[in-house]
Amino acid sequence: MTLENLQSLLLPQIETSLIDFFNSLDFGASPELGQILRYHMGWEADASGNMPRGKRLRPLITLLATGGFNEYPPASMPAAIAVELLHNFTLIHDDIEDQSPLRHGRPTLWQRYGTAQAVNAGDALFSIAQLSMLNLAETSSQVVVLDALQEFNRSYLHLAQGQYLDISFEDKTDVAVSTYLEMVAGKTGALIALAASLGARITGQTLTEYHKLAEYGHYLGLAFQIQDDILGIWGDPKITGKSAASDILTRKKSLPNLIGLAECPEFRSLWKKETLADEEVLKMANLLENCGVREKVNQQSEELTQLSLQSLETVFPKKNDYSAALSELAGSLLSRDY
Ligand code: IPE
Ligand code: IPE
Ligand code: MG
Ligand code: MG
Repeated sequence: MTLENLQSLLLPQIETSLIDFFNSLDFGASPELGQILRYHMGWEADASGNMPRGKRLRPLITLLATGGFNEYPPASMPAAIAVELLHNFTLIHDDIEDQSPLRHGRPTLWQRYGTAQAVNAGDALFSIAQLSMLNLAETSSQVVVLDALQEFNRSYLHLAQGQYLDISFEDKTDVAVSTYLEMVAGKTGALIALAASLGARITGQTLTEYHKLAEYGHYLGLAFQIQDDILGIWGDPKITGKSAASDILTRKKSLPNLIGLAECPEFRSLWKKETLADEEVLKMANLLENCGVREKVNQQSEELTQLSLQSLETVFPKKNDYSAALSELAGSLLSRDY
């Protein structure tokens, strides 16, 4: 089975498990809180009947890693969906922090329900994610559940550190590429590393396998965030579901912007302007392209993907369909457009 076959098999199972788990929760006197979260997850239409969802990349990685060890992938389902729920909690709070008006082509929670209720919805989702992790106890030993839960919380702490650094860059004039990568290792790498390493933890592998799979997820996360940065400038908003060229407009210290500031003087002088007209944003994106920044950043993402594949190779020297799909997935993310 190819990655495509496995995606057609596993993604509907992931969605059903997420929805079933949500249906098992009791929102008591606050059913609207459940509705707000259903809207965020893409199960509740907006006024136009629109219900787009995220890619469900992280739970897919957990299930594929589980299958890579010749275990039944759904054995990891409570952990897989817990990572997806945790990811969605971070998106809700991230959109408040970044003041992003759109996600998945629809108004973000803080835009639609106000910041205070969006904070509450995020907090609820954090607890819901923890509850899903605890459901692992139905099929795994207490030792495995505790180990997985500890890694879950450690990874989230790392993510919060990354988000802290990301916001702190707003007040800095120059940020080194190595510092940027440290920030991304937290904000994006930590959760993808967790998603992968849970496959090893739940199937009872050795520490070496945990760490090598986490390394695969770490490098994949770095490559993934660099692609996100590329889409944050050159992505088509109709496909990404986020605002166009928003990372230039908001002067985000994304990788293309950082390299452009260091290597492209005309880009640097426009960056300093108080306000930017639409044509200037477009001009800056073109300047980055002409200065070779887009190509450089793409190359960096490719190199990091190669590193992720090397780590994967050491865990699964003899591939089955699931581990082969994990390597195909890494390659396919390089050409993603959303
Ligand atoms: C968005 O992640 C945030 C980043 C870490 C770049 P995804 O691109 O995986 O988000 P969804 O779940 O598909 O919306
Ligand atoms: C992604 O942050 C990481 C988290 C959400 C924790 P970004 O702010 O870079 O991602 P988008 O572009 O809003 O999805
Ligand atoms: Mg953001
Ligand atoms: Mg952010």
